Amino acid sequence: MIDENLIRELITAADEARSRSYAPYSDYAVGAALLTGDGRIITGCNMENAAFGPGICAERCAVYKAVSEGCREFTAIAVAGSPVGEPISQFASPCGVCRQVMREFTDPADFSVIVAGPDGRYKVNTLEELLPDSFGPDNLG
Ligand code: THU
Repeated sequence: MIDENLIRELITAADEARSRSYAPYSDYAVGAALLTGDGRIITGCNMENAAFGPGICAERCAVYKAVSEGCREFTAIAVAGSPVGEPISQFASPCGVCRQVMREFTDPADFSVIVAGPDGRYKVNTLEELLPDSFGPDNLG
């Protein structure tokens, strides 16, 4: 289980990343903070596009940044999402595509997904709880 102080640090990093979100079409800003196996925090934000399809979620932004920098071991991710201009006003749980991307590089039973909510509240689940009976690299041998 992750230490409460670390959870708070990750949520703060996710919320800071959220301030860099580029979401002019949905007006919904998301930030993510990924904790690596060696204790680094790599952030991401959602980035939308006028052509819609090329947009990317905050969680995948963080994972792709990390993997492209040579890191493939992750312990946890914190996510903070709410309409642009509002403080965190709701629990924004990762979408299905992002859950599957996290699955690629983690043991789902041993990877924590922290979702920030209003008033400093948060929820913690394992990825396995959010994506049960998942398909992953082991299926392909
Ligand atoms: N979004 C994320 O960044 N993460 C999620 O898990 C769900 C949705 C973004 C995508 C889009 O830019 C905006 O939130 C509204 O869907």
